[in-house]
Amino acid sequence: MCGIFGYVGSKQAAPILVSGLQKLEYRGYDSAGMYIAGAGSVKAVGKVAALVAELETKQSAGTAGIAHTRWATHGEPSVSNSHPHSDTAEKIWLVHNGIIENYQALKNELLEAGVEFVSQTDTEVLAQLVASLYKGDLKSALQEALARVHGTYGIAVMATDNPGQIVVARMGSPIVVGVGDDTEMFVASDPSALLEYTNQFIYLEDSEMAVIEADTYTVTSIAGEARAKSPELVLHDVSAVQKNGYDHFMLKEINEAAEVIRNSTRGRIDARAGTVKLGGLEDVAETLATIKRLTIVGCGSAYYAGQMGRLMIEEYAGLPVEIELGSEFRYRRNLGDASSAVLAVTQSGETADTLASIVAAKNLGQLTLGIVNSVGSTIARTTDAGVYNHAGPEIAVASTKAFISQLTVFVLLTVWLGRQREMGGEEASEILTALAGLPDVIEMMLADTAAIEAVARKYANSRDMMFIGRQLHAPIAYEGSLKLKEVSYLHAEAYAGGELKHGSIAMLGPDFPVFAIAPEDAVYAKMVSNIEEVRARKAPVILLTTEGALGADGLADDVLYMPKVHSILQPIIATIPLQLFAYYVGVARGLDVDQPRNLAKSVTVE
Ligand code: G6P
Repeated sequence: MCGIFGYVGSKQAAPILVSGLQKLEYRGYDSAGMYIAGAGSVKAVGKVAALVAELETKQSAGTAGIAHTRWATHGEPSVSNSHPHSDTAEKIWLVHNGIIENYQALKNELLEAGVEFVSQTDTEVLAQLVASLYKGDLKSALQEALARVHGTYGIAVMATDNPGQIVVARMGSPIVVGVGDDTEMFVASDPSALLEYTNQFIYLEDSEMAVIEADTYTVTSIAGEARAKSPELVLHDVSAVQKNGYDHFMLKEINEAAEVIRNSTRGRIDARAGTVKLGGLEDVAETLATIKRLTIVGCGSAYYAGQMGRLMIEEYAGLPVEIELGSEFRYRRNLGDASSAVLAVTQSGETADTLASIVAAKNLGQLTLGIVNSVGSTIARTTDAGVYNHAGPEIAVASTKAFISQLTVFVLLTVWLGRQREMGGEEASEILTALAGLPDVIEMMLADTAAIEAVARKYANSRDMMFIGRQLHAPIAYEGSLKLKEVSYLHAEAYAGGELKHGSIAMLGPDFPVFAIAPEDAVYAKMVSNIEEVRARKAPVILLTTEGALGADGLADDVLYMPKVHSILQPIIATIPLQLFAYYVGVARGLDVDQPRNLAKSVTVE
């Protein structure tokens, strides 16, 4: 949440800072700003494009600076609340991601000392505090200030009288230093924003700080102990962060589904032997064979992927599983013990609520695991063991390809855990053979999406929409509804089909369409009854079912067909039309589907 980017070197900083912020915009985009040593600050409300327009009216020459794109926590999006913040005399400039919890107490002290504030932010308090302690050495002023701060932060700070230096620190919000050639250094909240410039990264851990100059960096703990860190090499295809001819990242990423499944399964499946190899779990395999319960934790789409994981693992592997929202689980009494494990599902690996749940479980001595997409992220580093998704960077704020990959990894994990328990080799072989063939099926499906686009256009002006599904397709209904809410702002709800009659059917009528996900499976007849109940209330029905499903043609106002695959994989197939539906509705409504209002992709605050 909020993106930080910094540069110190020999080139003009402004264009580099702009390009960095553009790649970090997914972390927040309600206002943006930068400070360039020698030129001062520029800020604008809205997206980075507004900052670019503002830059054209200002002098911005200089070869070092810090920049920020914001997702408001304290104070509305406005120029005065935008980062970088400074003290009144503009000695210190600071960008911040996170929340200073004791900002009010610190602010009161500074107010008493006569300091005047121009913003409502917690960040300005930190800038003023650092300035009040500054005596020519930025690092020590920051150390003193941070010793007094409670809360979370990733920060980058500059002193006006030392234009060649940036000091960064981390507590709970990611900061990565990018090591360029001999004459330049970078800093960012996410390495993907730096890939254009370098693939050598130094990840700060919590309670660490670094002093960066064009040709050097030093890492220490915030308390001052030396930390020897050499750069890690991260290999990513830069094209993953470009649109490659698609109108939007969201559409590009939906279209990457087949490739994502190939990447998530590569080298991990032996279909003939009916075995799955998950290198990241090998060290804890013995423990996992004996656990009695697994608790899955996630937020947003990752939570729904976790719901699917629960259904799959219980059904096919016979291990009891619970699923929890990170924001709730972290504050609950965790009854887990050494016979249970906690598994975080997260694309970014930085979601604060998911991370806090993992830390709490670790403190209890529980085994912690991750299904994480972002390599080297905080949750990947914090968990004892885990499985990487290998879905590549996901740029659109609403998750699509990462969700597909999470479901895929859950299929792998189900077979892996199942083979430790009650799943026979034949069943495993059947699932894995079908999984290996899934990318080709998806490619065929994605070759013609005209029917989905037409249905989306037809319903794009609705006010409300209901999604229903049962068993493995209930979480898909929830995710389909979330996707539509995120990118179209339509009011959408989702229920397990059998639950409708217990209350929410009261809302239905001719203006309240229902999207029913009903492949021809074990509960198809039950879903048909639920659809009849909906039709009896005159609500229009869009049916997503499998090719050749009995009686599907006359069952709904609009019928979309998908290929029929192994039942454990059907939800992966069913997800794609729902993602496309949300996308096309959002586009038909003229909205920014890649960066919907009020959202941020990486939610590093509570
Ligand atoms: C945010 C994003 C969602 C995402 C959720 C969890 O709310 O907008 O798309 O599902 O965070 O993110 P994670 O990175 O933990 O998967």
